[in-house]
Amino acid sequence: MLPYQRLGVNIDHVATLRNARGGTYPEPVRAALQAIAAGADGITAHLREDRRHIRDADMAALKAAISKPLNFEMAATPEMLRIALATAPHACCLVPEKRTEVTTEGGLDVAGQLGTLRPFVGQLRDAGIRVSLFVDPDPAQLRASAEAGANIVELHTGAYAEGKPGELERLISGAALAASLGLEVHAGHGLTYENTPPVSAIPQVVELNIGHFIIGEAVFTGLDVVVRRFRELMDQART
Ligand code: PXP
Repeated sequence: MLPYQRLGVNIDHVATLRNARGGTYPEPVRAALQAIAAGADGITAHLREDRRHIRDADMAALKAAISKPLNFEMAATPEMLRIALATAPHACCLVPEKRTEVTTEGGLDVAGQLGTLRPFVGQLRDAGIRVSLFVDPDPAQLRASAEAGANIVELHTGAYAEGKPGELERLISGAALAASLGLEVHAGHGLTYENTPPVSAIPQVVELNIGHFIIGEAVFTGLDVVVRRFRELMDQART
C-alpha cells in the first residue's frame, strides 16, 4: 500500500461560469466547501494576470472560508508575490503564464530563470508558504527546481493526458528523480477518470490537482459524486 495521495480540487472553472454572466453565481467558495465536504484534501485556484476566472476577492474569500489547505497558483511576477504574501495561502504553485494561452500549456522553465526564481521562491518560503514549481518531467528542470529552493514540484501531466507515447514513463522516472532530490512530488493537468489511475500509482506522487474535468463532470453528476469517485480511483490505484 502506497502512502495516501491527496486530491486538490481546482475550482477555477466555477469562476469561469460565473464570469460568463458577470454576476456572483455560481460562487467558487460554495464549490470549494462542497468539494471539501466530499473529501477533497485541498483547494487550488489560479489568479491569472488577466483575471479571466479567479479574481482577487475570490482568493481572499477562499482563504477565509476553507478549512483545508489553499494552493495559490500564480505566475512569478511582483504583483502576484504581493497578493500571495497578503493572502498567506498554505502553498503557492508557480506556473508559466502567457496571455494568449487557453490553459497552462507547458511547464515552467526553471533552469532558464534560476537567477530570478531563487529569490522569488525564497521570499515566499520566508513568509512560511510552501512553494511548488509546475514543471515538465524533465531531469534538467527537476534539478533546477531543487536548486531554486522549492519544496515541491508539480509534474505537468498534459502531454501524458494527450496520449503522447512515452509520457507515463517520463512521469515515473521524473517522480523518482524529484524525490531523490528531496522534493515533494505532485502532478496535474488534463486528468480524467480514465487517465488518473496510472498517475495515482506512481509511488512518489503524494498529491494530484484536478480541475477542468471535475467541474465539467459535476454538471452531469454533481460535484460531490465526482470528488468521491476520484477518491475511490486514487485509493484503488495505491493499494
Ligand atoms: N495544476 C496546475 C499547476 C495547473 O495550472 C492546472 C490548470 O490550471 C491544473 C493542475 C489542473 O488542470 P486541469 O484543469 O486540466 O485539471
